[in-house]
Amino acid sequence: MKMSCYIIEGGRKLQGEVTVSGSKNASLPIIAATILNKGITKLYNVPNIHDTQITLEILKYLGCKVKKHRNKIEINSKNITKKEIPEHLMNQMRSTVILAGAILGRFKEATFSYPGGCDIGARPIDLHLSAFKKLGINISENSGFITCKCDKIIGSNIDLDFPSVGATENIILASVFAEGTTQITNAAMEPEIVDLVKCLNKMGAKIEGAGTNIITIKGVQQLKDIGYSIMQDRIEAGTLLCAAAITEGNITLNYRTPEHITPILNKLEEAGCQVSVQKGKVLLSAPRRLKAVDIKTMPYPGFPTDMQSVLASSLTVAKGTSMIIENIFENRYRYVPELKKMGAKITIEGKTAVIKGVKKLSGAKVKSTDLRGGASLVLAGLAARGTTTVTNIEYILRGYENLEQKLTELGAKIIKKEGD
Ligand code: EPZ
Repeated sequence: MKMSCYIIEGGRKLQGEVTVSGSKNASLPIIAATILNKGITKLYNVPNIHDTQITLEILKYLGCKVKKHRNKIEINSKNITKKEIPEHLMNQMRSTVILAGAILGRFKEATFSYPGGCDIGARPIDLHLSAFKKLGINISENSGFITCKCDKIIGSNIDLDFPSVGATENIILASVFAEGTTQITNAAMEPEIVDLVKCLNKMGAKIEGAGTNIITIKGVQQLKDIGYSIMQDRIEAGTLLCAAAITEGNITLNYRTPEHITPILNKLEEAGCQVSVQKGKVLLSAPRRLKAVDIKTMPYPGFPTDMQSVLASSLTVAKGTSMIIENIFENRYRYVPELKKMGAKITIEGKTAVIKGVKKLSGAKVKSTDLRGGASLVLAGLAARGTTTVTNIEYILRGYENLEQKLTELGAKIIKKEGD
């Protein structure tokens, strides 16, 4: 992997207005959903980031024709010839397992390798596989490859042990053409699932209950050509708000779904920020110094795990002691040793992190360990005294479109240095 880095001069207050890009975590399942339509699907507001590029590479490998112009993508899935996801692409991004559900839904067979664990945990797919079995799909595994096959997909009732986002999305994608009705109980309720279902229903699917913990999918015969615009990214919105919070800033987000980030807005208000929501905009004005707050990550609509490291970095310079409990992933504190290099006072005890606020962080050379951990280091660099170099930023480029341009527009001093 190239080792590019960000070089950040800290101590500048973020001010001004910025537009939030399309959602990474809605784009990936929606791009997968285009496999189900034997025709042409046009997608708008797709973020131009590594993870969407990889997903489109896989669709091209399968035989789709993909035309891309900035954030507009046209996918022609008429002539898909392959039903297996290549290992070298599967290993570049674990959420490609979503494509298996879509390939299965259309072809009743799919082969893929175990998605690599990643930097935040083991990321098993047992819930996906047990759900596929309930849908009548035979699953065989050998030498790390999983082959799923069946004559027909039979709608059935599936109760998820955990409201897994990916498993919920995969069951939906595999059940669109099933015989009969599939009901998911204890389904994930994330907004990205609502966006996927809005897109699928516009294509002609019959799905109800998205956004609640009970989702029903009535099998249909086929889907049709449509255009669909992806929702904005709630985690990018939260990240930019935290960037303003940690730099005593004052920003306006062009962001149309503040209802998706209520827990984040509440925490930032509790920490002393002034937040106001107007039509299509979220405004935040930060205090001179944030107050400590406690965070518990939960499935939606609770505080999102993807914002844990991002808000944590803002709390390293808050007044008082903050407590974080990470309930979703087992290894999501890998950014902490890097923040400590900058003077943060954080101790980890199992799922709990205790952050004792310090007055100022000092710039240092730090390494991104994962996507959201990397983002937290960028935010710390924006507030730190002196220069911070954040390396391995390929992790960050996976999930944030034009991050350094957006931060520069808001007054930050940040440049990207291409790796060798
Ligand atoms: C999605 O991952 C997101 N990724 C993640 O965002 C997000 O953190 C996560 O949902 C939770 O909100 C995409 O949408 C592409 P899960 P996913 O299945 O689907 C366990 C980011 O930074 N689990 O809800 O993989 C799992 O190990 C990324 O944008 C099983 O045990 O999340 C984890 O502990 C990171 N067995 C928990 O459930 C399974 O079969 C939540 O996982 C599946 C999951």
